[in-house]
Amino acid sequence: MCGIVGYIGNKPAKDILLNGLSKLEYRGYDSAGVAIRNENGFDIIKSKGKLENLKNKLKDKNLFGTCGIGHTRWATHGEPTEFNAHPHNSYNENVVVVHNGIIENYLEIKEKLVTYGYTFYSQTDTEVIAKLIDFYLNETNQNPIQAISKFMLRVTGSYALAIMFKNLKDEIYVARKDSPLIIGICNNENFIASDVPAILRYTKDVYYLDNYQMAKISTNSTIFYNIDGMEVKKKLTHIQMDLSSAEKNGFEHFMLKEIHEQPEAIEKTIKSLVKNEDIFLDRTGITNDFLSKIENIFIIGCGSAYHVGITLKYVFEKLANINVQVDFASEFRYRNPVLLKNTLLIVISQSGETADSLAGLKEAKKQKVPTLGIVNVVGSSIAREVDYVLYTLAGPEISVATTKAYSAQLVAGYLLAIKLAECKNKINQITRKELIKDVIEIPDKISVILKRQNEIQMLSSKFVNVKNIFLIGRNIDYAVVLEGSLKMKEVSYIHTEAYPAGELKHGTISLIENNSLVIGSISNINLAEKTFSNMLETKSRGAILLGFLTKDIRSTICDYVFEVPQINPLFANSLVIVPMQIMSYYLSVLKGNDVDKPRNLAKSVTVE
Ligand code: F6R
Repeated sequence: MCGIVGYIGNKPAKDILLNGLSKLEYRGYDSAGVAIRNENGFDIIKSKGKLENLKNKLKDKNLFGTCGIGHTRWATHGEPTEFNAHPHNSYNENVVVVHNGIIENYLEIKEKLVTYGYTFYSQTDTEVIAKLIDFYLNETNQNPIQAISKFMLRVTGSYALAIMFKNLKDEIYVARKDSPLIIGICNNENFIASDVPAILRYTKDVYYLDNYQMAKISTNSTIFYNIDGMEVKKKLTHIQMDLSSAEKNGFEHFMLKEIHEQPEAIEKTIKSLVKNEDIFLDRTGITNDFLSKIENIFIIGCGSAYHVGITLKYVFEKLANINVQVDFASEFRYRNPVLLKNTLLIVISQSGETADSLAGLKEAKKQKVPTLGIVNVVGSSIAREVDYVLYTLAGPEISVATTKAYSAQLVAGYLLAIKLAECKNKINQITRKELIKDVIEIPDKISVILKRQNEIQMLSSKFVNVKNIFLIGRNIDYAVVLEGSLKMKEVSYIHTEAYPAGELKHGTISLIENNSLVIGSISNINLAEKTFSNMLETKSRGAILLGFLTKDIRSTICDYVFEVPQINPLFANSLVIVPMQIMSYYLSVLKGNDVDKPRNLAKSVTVE
């Protein structure tokens, strides 16, 4: 999704903005631009496509301005053209704006502004922002805070804004609603960004702007305002993330680096919740008494986070014998979800900023049920909206395709399920200890798989030209093939489908032809024969069979097998997903795709 950077200080802004934008590239974008102050106004330079194009345009330009804003745009309103790229401006560059988010009522506002004589050069909602603020600037006798505040009251939708005014040379203004924005503080210079990696190189001391807040940022000061224009005080946060987590550290791609970081991400998450073989949820604010009264669980999320929810449904049901429903956040919000008494709503999100998940959460809050977020990004919107937050400690995830955050979410969920089962007296002490031990062993078992990366690379090279991949599994194995299928299609662009093993014969089997690849995941010996039978049904129609099996399961029918270590079947997803991630990675590399930034995709989907 879109990215924002801003700088005001004593150094030329150009390189700082470009560096910041390059650190936001991972979010996905299709055009980029900067506005840098000059003696009379601004140099606004934009380009379509990769940041490299913008860099080339800026290479020979003598831009020495020490104040500027920059943007990477992921097109929503209008195509990815130079005209539609940010920054946008009102006439005469009176107001120059970069924007993340969506203004829902922009067309209606645009029509009004046209009646006041404004003309528009782009198809974007952001140009409307620049012109509306300009309009209010005139109405408020050139008072920027009042003008922005009026804008905030007038528009619906979401926004993080960085704004420069032609006549206010030493200031950048920012405002936010439902789209993240941080201000990095340093000596004699300040930074603005939509995401931490953009400014990590310069400072770790940041302010998180809250919804309906604004700030006036100059070289030496930052003043915050609420929507009424009253000054507010905010707490400075010191970010724990280090620079190396935003670098590739010798790996060719972030995706591979993050796949290899999984044992550490999981271990950190476990250690934050388990002490002396017991689970403590104190950090989340959840008490044992609270858990003992929970009778229903509703899980929402998008994409991979939704797949974590599907896995956890099986785990919660098995361990805590509790009713669990899982829904796509984007669907949940537009139906009539009935959240029964004593329901806990769990929202799962790496970024904590996914618009659909945030909207689903707000819907649940309207029904007044307690809400718990399993979130990776500290201080993110979802983390702040939920009643309780269980942080995964996966560290920053740069690759668009999630790997380590997915794995950390799984273990956070397993531990929550064990705790719930304990509080509801559904498991005895011995079982609880065994289950916790099983979870603690996951990182080492993943490390064993990671050492066999070459085997999966070899396998991938055999399948790089297949047109269709079908992945099947039963029970928890169905949940893992959902994620494996998503991972493969999003980075390799090969068409994949995931099915419950028994469901294929009800229609989809008609797609199986000679050399279709069918991947079966089997981690529960009690269900193995059934899934093998379903795989055989496809083999007799020409399919090639690849099995991802736990050590205890023997196959006589698979053409290829990759064995993962033995594990409690409840937690098998954590192992089986790893070879699937590695295979997705190599299929993508072998096809020459942009692994970390697959086409059309964005990290942190902040629009509906
Ligand atoms: C797939 C992927 C997406 C995200 C989804 C939710 O690899 O990364 O499917 O899982 O967009 O994102 P978060 O977890 O940030 O809410």
